[in-house]
Amino acid sequence: MAAEENQTCFEGRTLQNFQVYLEQSGDHEASLRCVHNILPGEFKRIGAGKSHLDVLGVGSGGGEIDAPMLTLLQSTFPGVPITADIVEGSSQLTDNFKGINNSERHSVIALVAKTTNIQKIPFTWYTMHSEDYERPVKEKGDMKTFDFIHMIQMIYFVDNLASTIKFYHSLLKNNGRLMIIVEADNSGWDVLWKTYTKELCVGAITECRSSGEVISCLKSQGLKYEEHVIPNTFDITECFNPKSQTGQCLLNFFTVKDNFYQSFTPEIRAGMLDLLRNECSSKKDGRVFFNNNVSCILVHA
Ligand SMILES: C[S@@+](CC[C@H](N)C(=O)[O-])C[C@H]1O[C@@H](n2cnc3c(N)ncnc32)[C@H](O)[C@@H]1O
Repeated sequence: MAAEENQTCFEGRTLQNFQVYLEQSGDHEASLRCVHNILPGEFKRIGAGKSHLDVLGVGSGGGEIDAPMLTLLQSTFPGVPITADIVEGSSQLTDNFKGINNSERHSVIALVAKTTNIQKIPFTWYTMHSEDYERPVKEKGDMKTFDFIHMIQMIYFVDNLASTIKFYHSLLKNNGRLMIIVEADNSGWDVLWKTYTKELCVGAITECRSSGEVISCLKSQGLKYEEHVIPNTFDITECFNPKSQTGQCLLNFFTVKDNFYQSFTPEIRAGMLDLLRNECSSKKDGRVFFNNNVSCILVHA
């Protein structure tokens, strides 16, 4: 996933590349399949017998997945008060989430307006890195705990995978769940980043993290979890047309660069393009479809 240099949170050019990626990739649609297929049953178990429910979103971006999740939770437990705390490092995306930017696509207010349940939910905003949320919470010791914590497509960016998982797991209430959505093992992302680790794991992202790494970490901490793989592919044929703006934004996002064409030697670029076409994708009717499978991991309290 993309960020530039040492900045992990999505602003400026990185945000533009991300928005092109979202339009092309079906990434949100895959996350929404997790929401609709997996969460109804989970929410019933999480909320059973509780008088109020507290949700924490980490790296929520523009809130496009938070809004339907909160809607689902509220409709599963009508009348039960819900709070939502959001830890997101990008002020641009937090503004989109709050509805400060009047874009229909990125305004949760637009989503909230359609759903009276969500309008009543009080939000607490932490516009900061996860690490900066973690530090004072640990120091104070009196942590707010949560019934449901989610980290959707963001675990790549935290400084330390093991300590981050340990920290958020420690904030779960009785019967709570930590949901981590991450690129699946052997997905196109996994193949690209593991083949070109030396070139890509520089700056903000220093190690490759797919579902395999997350699951090893959960096992080493003795945590109970379930994994659901959500299949997804998308057409990346534009990446092979050097004149295509969309193709370039996708290549920038895949490689966490502002400019794919200026960031690598011609040999490395050719190797990456060959890998994207032949190892990360399948072909159909002359088009190239990238393997964008995601894994939804539910960690038990
Ligand atoms: C790939 S986006 C996913 C956003 C959202 N969950 C979604 O699915 O649309 C990653 C998000 O994590 C945020 N982020 C990156 N590093 C972070 C950190 N250390 N702490 C908090 N948020 C972070 C980025 O700003 C961005 O919004």
